[in-house]
Amino acid sequence: MHEVNQHSRLSRATLDKRRDDVADMFDNVASHYDLLNDILSLGQDRGWRRATVRAIAPQPGERILDLAAGTGTSSQALADQGPTVVAADLSYGMLAQGRKQYPAIDFVNADALCLPFADETFDAVTISYGLRNVEDTVAALREMLRVTKPGGRVVVNEFSTPTNKVFRTIYDDYLLRALPPLAKLSPNPVAYGYLAESILAWPDQAALADLLVEAGWQRVEWQNLTGGIVALHRGWRP
Ligand SMILES: C[S@@+](CC[C@H](N)C(=O)[O-])C[C@H]1O[C@@H](n2cnc3c(N)ncnc32)[C@H](O)[C@@H]1O
Repeated sequence: MHEVNQHSRLSRATLDKRRDDVADMFDNVASHYDLLNDILSLGQDRGWRRATVRAIAPQPGERILDLAAGTGTSSQALADQGPTVVAADLSYGMLAQGRKQYPAIDFVNADALCLPFADETFDAVTISYGLRNVEDTVAALREMLRVTKPGGRVVVNEFSTPTNKVFRTIYDDYLLRALPPLAKLSPNPVAYGYLAESILAWPDQAALADLLVEAGWQRVEWQNLTGGIVALHRGWRP
């Protein structure tokens, strides 16, 4: 596993991100996943998705991979702009929910660490709130590079580190104190405990940009959303 804790706000040594456990966890939250996103983010997630689509700037005729697509909410926002979107995810439960919600999208079972696609298949590859859950961040970013055409782009939408220190303290407090009681109301409290921990242990904006460069992406840049609660990283395949 890639060592990320030196850049994170949580000093816990490791988060268990074994593939089967992660898939089981998402199988269990699939039916209420989208609703809880709206509630826990206080509706902010919708604006973050719109910003992600703008960063990808999908064009009709393009082929785009939405990796860790879950129930397809991120994929449908892209498909609305005209490209062909492939929604890939590890969890059969999330895929089943996605197929019900968005029957026109092509859903594929896939592991980010071993994608079932040929080299240079996609014009763009994107991942929303998924990279944090993959065991090996750089290996996943390399797989994403492999399936992207030369000159193609990647956009990573992920929770990040608020840039203002006071705001960061309040937000970390929300994650550690307010989210667990809220999560207890959900059918799967463990998943939402994991959510807070995995956000706090995740590399900050600059550290994630370094990982993208390490994986081979170039011209890496990022944009903060809602003061850095979320960051969009974009890079290009040479
Ligand atoms: C928080 S959900 C994000 C879903 C969707 N992209 C969205 O924006 O709502 C994270 C997703 O990552 C998927 N995932 C976790 N590890 C994965 C892996 N190694 N390969 C593919 N998908 C993975 C989970 O099954 C889950 O559906």
